[in-house]
Amino acid sequence: MRESKIITIERFLLDTQPDYARGELTSILYDLALAAKIISAQTRRAGLLDILGFADNVNVQGETQRKLDVYADDVIIKLTQHTGRLCAMVSEEREEVISIPECFTKGSYILVFDPLDGSSNIDTNISIGTIFGIYKTLDEENSGCLADCLQPGRDLVAAGYMLYGTSTMMVYSTGKGVHGFTLDPSWGEFILSHENICFPNPPAYFSFNHAITHRLPTPILAYIDWLRNLTEPTLTHRYVGSMVADFHRNLIHGGVFGYPAAPTKPDGKIRLLYEAAPLAFLAEQAGGFGSDGSQSLLEIKPSYIHQRVPVFIGNRFLVEKAKEILFPKI
Ligand code: AHG
Ligand code: MN
Ligand code: MN
Repeated sequence: MRESKIITIERFLLDTQPDYARGELTSILYDLALAAKIISAQTRRAGLLDILGFADNVNVQGETQRKLDVYADDVIIKLTQHTGRLCAMVSEEREEVISIPECFTKGSYILVFDPLDGSSNIDTNISIGTIFGIYKTLDEENSGCLADCLQPGRDLVAAGYMLYGTSTMMVYSTGKGVHGFTLDPSWGEFILSHENICFPNPPAYFSFNHAITHRLPTPILAYIDWLRNLTEPTLTHRYVGSMVADFHRNLIHGGVFGYPAAPTKPDGKIRLLYEAAPLAFLAEQAGGFGSDGSQSLLEIKPSYIHQRVPVFIGNRFLVEKAKEILFPKI
């Protein structure tokens, strides 16, 4: 008989930390798990924010009230910048690289994150998430300069996401498989619920925003048609509009998420550094693949922090088919 175990994220992080990590990486991940609990508690009250006074106007104390994505951004920064583990951060919500204030010690890691992914879904009570990636600095001085933040996804030392859905989950990888933890709200603990996640075969879903398909170039339409007409297996279309939620569903049941370039969005919509690269890292760790249509998302070195990129991500054979159709060998 298989003995069942209850393993907290803290226990798992300590038991599986990479040999080089000496505790710093583990403690960043643990701080992010705490951030997830705080953001999750706030997202659970999202429908009450207008009533309770956290919406985008002025509350009774005269404070400017904040949106959930600004709140999430603030929580992550306040939990991590003082710990001596990081030397810079990049957030979707901040135009520039975030430096560690002079009063705190700098560490040797860079944190990149999308504090709230799928924010247009907040007010309709649909799953949203947080995405993060962690890099090592490039220099001994831990300067935390722009070059440190512009590393290709291949150099990620860890990446993951939090999903605020029917339950709250944290899914991450340090390069040794992908592991998922579910928050027990009464204990306030993330418990290992999905060890060593791999994209299953056959896959079940394809996820594209069809509202833009009439504007897409013919080869991309041909790829979407191929997905639609596949018979072994047949795929069902599902699209949440929060990349984390779409990615997570496809990771659990198999499938492909795509956000291609379109005439109105020549570089696509998804941001390379803190959306596409972390999820591509997880995809590869789970036996899948992420590409921009021609090359692995992990090979692309960002030129600037908010760079966008076309994305195809999911089961490897589905993603590789995109390249075959978009760039046929003559
Ligand atoms: P964010 O909320 O962080 O700006 O990201 C939104 C992104 C991504 O999560 C999602 O897949 C995509 O936008 C949806 O875009 P469309 O509404 O154009 O389909
Ligand atoms: Mn996003
Ligand atoms: Mn966002």
